[in-house]
Amino acid sequence: MMTHTEDRKRLRVIVLFGGRSDEHEVSVLSATNVLSAMDRTKYEPVPVHIGRDGRWKLSSIIEGQLSKPTEGPCIAPVPGGRGRLLVVEADTPIAELAPVDAIFPVLHGQWGEDGSIQGSIVTLCVPLIGCGISGSANALDKEITKRLLSEAGLPVARSMVLHRDNPTSFDLVKKGLGLPFFLKPVTQGSSVGVGKVTNDEEFQSVLATGLQHDQRVLAEEYMTGREIECAVLENMDGSLFVSRPGEIVPSATHDFYTSMQNTLIRKGPNYALRPISPTQRKRRSARWPRRRFALSGAMDSLASISS
Ligand SMILES: Nc1ncnc2c1ncn2[C@@H]1O[C@H](COP(=O)(O)OP(=O)(O)OP(=O)(O)O)[C@@H](O)[C@H]1O
Ligand SMILES: [Mg+2]
Repeated sequence: MMTHTEDRKRLRVIVLFGGRSDEHEVSVLSATNVLSAMDRTKYEPVPVHIGRDGRWKLSSIIEGQLSKPTEGPCIAPVPGGRGRLLVVEADTPIAELAPVDAIFPVLHGQWGEDGSIQGSIVTLCVPLIGCGISGSANALDKEITKRLLSEAGLPVARSMVLHRDNPTSFDLVKKGLGLPFFLKPVTQGSSVGVGKVTNDEEFQSVLATGLQHDQRVLAEEYMTGREIECAVLENMDGSLFVSRPGEIVPSATHDFYTSMQNTLIRKGPNYALRPISPTQRKRRSARWPRRRFALSGAMDSLASISS
């Protein structure tokens, strides 16, 4: 077995991607971007693909594309093993890979961004790159995030939560929020299952789609305005680095940021982010990302914030 050595120059980092959620493909694109940005003089990336069945398999980069193996041996990190990695396959003796120094989950959605994988990495006693358990769990859940933000006095769109067992009628939502309104699965991201509703027929169809992704669907009043995104990264001393904000500009064919556009933007070619001018940045909204980051409990990590 190899052990951690003092003289090893590069940090071996597992980049976990794929996953069981409906945002599997978005994660593949994110991991491709992360891997292309990782400084190979400092880090030795170990890409690991999580299949839709939840199994971990060693991946590799072939002609710029990440492989997504679904067959072959599984990678099994050892609980409490400080980065020890076993290779497990039926009818074959267990093998071991060189240990890793950290794990970077580049996963989206349920079982990837909701605290579950973060919790399991904590039990491995290996450093986790990204949000911790509570930051992930709070921020992925749109209902909880909105409660935290509104309790702290930050403005949020009016909303109602519709439950699979007892969804509210179109008329009641219309009465509460007006028309149009938005429906979105509570624990889904990347605009998957999100839709704009202007009548009962659309309500039934968007709600049915939303409930395929989650047991809860958030109905939210329609917000007119501009959509601004930025990234927040916590520095080693606890201070926050807030990136320059960018504006998401929907293409002429879409009146909001759909999952297709979201994917294309992550891929790069259909770049629809517009920088915000310095004067606009000085406005009150420039302070919100810091408060939002702190309030969602993501204080040990990184986040992307939209408002
Ligand atoms: N209340 C609203 N009014 C107007 N447009 C909205 C509203 N809610 C969502 N949208 C549009 O739908 C897109 C997706 O919604 P949202 O960002 O809330 O969900 P998500 O992308 O699935 O989640 P996450 O941002 O956490 O990944 C937004 O980027 C925006 O363009
Ligand atoms: Mg979004």
